[in-house]
Amino acid sequence: MDQVNVALVGAGSWGNNILRTLSRIDDANVKLVCDIDTNQIKRLAREYPAIIFTEKIEDITKNKSIDAVIIATPSPTHAAFTKMFLLSGHAVFVEKPMALTLADAEELFDITQKESSPLLMVGHLLIYHPALESVHRLIASEEIGTLYYIYTKRLNLGIVRKDENALWSLAPHDISIVLDLIEEKPNAVSATGSAYVNQGIEDVVFLTLSFPSGRIAQIHVSWLDPHKERKVVVVGSKKMVVFDDMQPNEKVKVYDKGAEVEGSADYIESISIRHGDINIPLVPSAEPLMKEMEHFISCVKNDTSPRSGAGEGLAVVRILTAGVESLKSHGKTIELT
Ligand SMILES: NC(=O)c1ccc[n+]([C@@H]2O[C@H](COP(=O)([O-])OP(=O)(O)OC[C@H]3O[C@@H](n4cnc5c(N)ncnc54)[C@H](O)[C@@H]3O)[C@@H](O)[C@H]2O)c1
Repeated sequence: MDQVNVALVGAGSWGNNILRTLSRIDDANVKLVCDIDTNQIKRLAREYPAIIFTEKIEDITKNKSIDAVIIATPSPTHAAFTKMFLLSGHAVFVEKPMALTLADAEELFDITQKESSPLLMVGHLLIYHPALESVHRLIASEEIGTLYYIYTKRLNLGIVRKDENALWSLAPHDISIVLDLIEEKPNAVSATGSAYVNQGIEDVVFLTLSFPSGRIAQIHVSWLDPHKERKVVVVGSKKMVVFDDMQPNEKVKVYDKGAEVEGSADYIESISIRHGDINIPLVPSAEPLMKEMEHFISCVKNDTSPRSGAGEGLAVVRILTAGVESLKSHGKTIELT
């Protein structure tokens, strides 16, 4: 295959970014865009005269030249559209979250496990962020020593959603980051949160993941906060790493800090605190969306497995649904099997 022929479903604010990004990738050829908003279609048709625009989703399945479909419609449509296109033999990229129920996510995962299934990639954008890839390398190379724990913050004032809580709206990114960095699936989840603006829709959530290795991760999401924060903090036995996406440059800082114990497990003689240098690794300035789309197109072209496939999508939905169950029972720990 010289170029991957792509159809995009959903050309709203994020779909527009995807379209713009794909138009800069040589191996991608966007042939068809489907959206139910007629005005949006008319506007985009003027901007992209070589692309066919349609309001009918079946125009994609009817068009035999399409290799891959990208779904950037609102999340309630993700599971049904993904299933439809996988079953019609198309490689699919679906925005996060892959589905809104565990049953739907499991069904999609099962479809992809069949031998003849096309590939499915989920839009876990931030694992393709070059700065987070550099954090991943620092962990994998054991430069930070043993990984102890991770916490993340995704905070801002607004956008206050009416149809989904802060967990579903904001946490998929952080959950996918944590799973990518820890490379382990949690065995328990607990969440506390509160709804202040809209009854029953949590504006702030603290989600805790516990892992079989004893590590923990805490994810704090809120749209009711005075600060805009996008942060990941990784604490290891030798070093600590901070990723701060609000910094225009120098997004990753590595702190040579830690607590060192003298003596044995039975008898601790002393504990010394180490304050060393702060190192700022050079991180390539590539756009995460460009890296993500290039990865999808390359997986389709070369028939390779995506880094954020159906298994990763399912893991995120499993944690989100367990988080909701815990929220409803005032922070009860939900065991994951
Ligand atoms: N990865 C990221 O960082 C990121 C960022 C923003 C949004 N998103 C995801 O992208 C998706 C879209 O978000 P958005 O902010 O662009 O929303 P949006 O409302 O701006 O756009 C959605 C578009 O889908 C169209 N649409 C709705 N139902 C449709 C249907 N049945 N068939 C065809 N088109 C349909 C709408 O007309 C609209 O143009 C969501 O799943 C969201 O979670 C991801």
